[in-house]
Amino acid sequence: MRRYHVTTFGCQMNAHDSERIKGLLEELGLGEAPNQDEADVLVFNTCTIREKPDTRLAAHLGNARMLKEQDPGRVIAVGGCYAEAQRDRIFETYPFVDVAFGPGSIPHLAEWLGAGGEGVARGAFGTAEERAFAGRLPMHRERRFQAWVQISMGCNSVCAYCIVPAVRGREVSRRPGEILAEVERLAAQGVREITLLGQNVNSYGRDVGSDFSELLRACDAVEGVERIRFTSPHPKDFRAPVIAAMADCQAVCEHAHLPLQSGSTRILKAMRRTYSRERYLRLVDELRAAIPDLALTTDLIVGFPGETEAEFEQTVSAVEEVGYDGAFTFVYSPRQGTEAAAMPGQVPEAVKRERIERLVEVVQRIGERRNRGRVGRIEEVLVEGPSRTDEALLRGRTRRNTTVVFTGDVQPGELVQVRIEDATSATLRGVELAAVAA
Ligand code: SAH
Ligand code: SF4
Ligand code: F3S
Repeated sequence: MRRYHVTTFGCQMNAHDSERIKGLLEELGLGEAPNQDEADVLVFNTCTIREKPDTRLAAHLGNARMLKEQDPGRVIAVGGCYAEAQRDRIFETYPFVDVAFGPGSIPHLAEWLGAGGEGVARGAFGTAEERAFAGRLPMHRERRFQAWVQISMGCNSVCAYCIVPAVRGREVSRRPGEILAEVERLAAQGVREITLLGQNVNSYGRDVGSDFSELLRACDAVEGVERIRFTSPHPKDFRAPVIAAMADCQAVCEHAHLPLQSGSTRILKAMRRTYSRERYLRLVDELRAAIPDLALTTDLIVGFPGETEAEFEQTVSAVEEVGYDGAFTFVYSPRQGTEAAAMPGQVPEAVKRERIERLVEVVQRIGERRNRGRVGRIEEVLVEGPSRTDEALLRGRTRRNTTVVFTGDVQPGELVQVRIEDATSATLRGVELAAVAA
């Protein structure tokens, strides 16, 4: 049997796309290989949000090229956002690549790879009009009790730093009936936690006569789904009906990943985020008033063109003011073709480095303080498996999306009560309640 291996870069959208790619390859009759070296079909599902994933891909493709030299029968396929951004160049840059495909072209992959995955076509890209939801494809899920559900593709925002609109196209919502049918199917298969995926989930539905709050309520009503998450909401579109749905729906988790990007209103404006620092902080207050015990996480960029020391410090003070449970921090990385890449006032690398180090320190200090506040509480944990560092311990996540490492005797997929005994900036430690009683 021919075997495939998929290497995935980037965000949850890409991770989910990879599940579809794997499902599709399995339908073609291929089995999964444990690593690239043992695979006949090597797929790279790429990201190009910053320079770093581009560099990492280049190293991976160096290995793939060597493998293909050893065995020319191997097929090398490069998909995802980098492939789309480089669609005019990819076969020149990497002549040993057999098939290249953009994120909207996954449903076409079978015809391009040929029956049995022999790699007949030398790559093609679907046009924007041909973009299709991968939702009808089979899906190879990593965990039987958790699933991603794509609700839209593309993005209509014009954030000055961001390449996503260029590679994923305009926003198109998936029809609510189709999404619900998928959620019901997943629930029937034993899925207990779903994560709704879109570049801007709050703008979902305008093109299909629905909206995100309705979708949350409909998913909440599906029997068997005990946890609903979503990522990412855009602060500019986070309106009262969605806050109300979060508060009302039992299954919707007490967590919002709310990308701030910068704490400076001037920088936010230059980024074209279309909200001010004050409006964002108001939204945080509204969310916290409606949803007690809400966890908040965010994305932050340092070193956007023109960012002064004082403006950077406003990001630091916003982190302190909000008190995030966690944050992804990024050094601004110019992406070709984006508005910000051509802006004057590009910040020197050394300054960006120094700023991110300071920011990470603050984020960690506050995350640890927030987590320490959980010590002594009982949290509901969805068990994911053994701890990555200690096989004797279990790992899972709370409704607030914090990782918990704990002592207990339960199976992955179970929901258990865990008493929290200790905390670091990123994890909690605890003991399963049944084990406490025993
Ligand atoms: N659609 C999502 C974000 C997708 S990208 C949203 O808007 O929430 C994830 C994060 O990467 C962004 O929130 C931003 O913080 C960061 N990012 C995007 N482009 C970047 C760039 N050019 N340089 C550095 N960070 C970037
Ligand atoms: Fe990029 Fe902005 Fe769209 Fe998010 S909302 S994908 S940051 S353009
Ligand atoms: Fe995601 Fe990277 Fe594409 S963050 S949308 S895989 S550019």
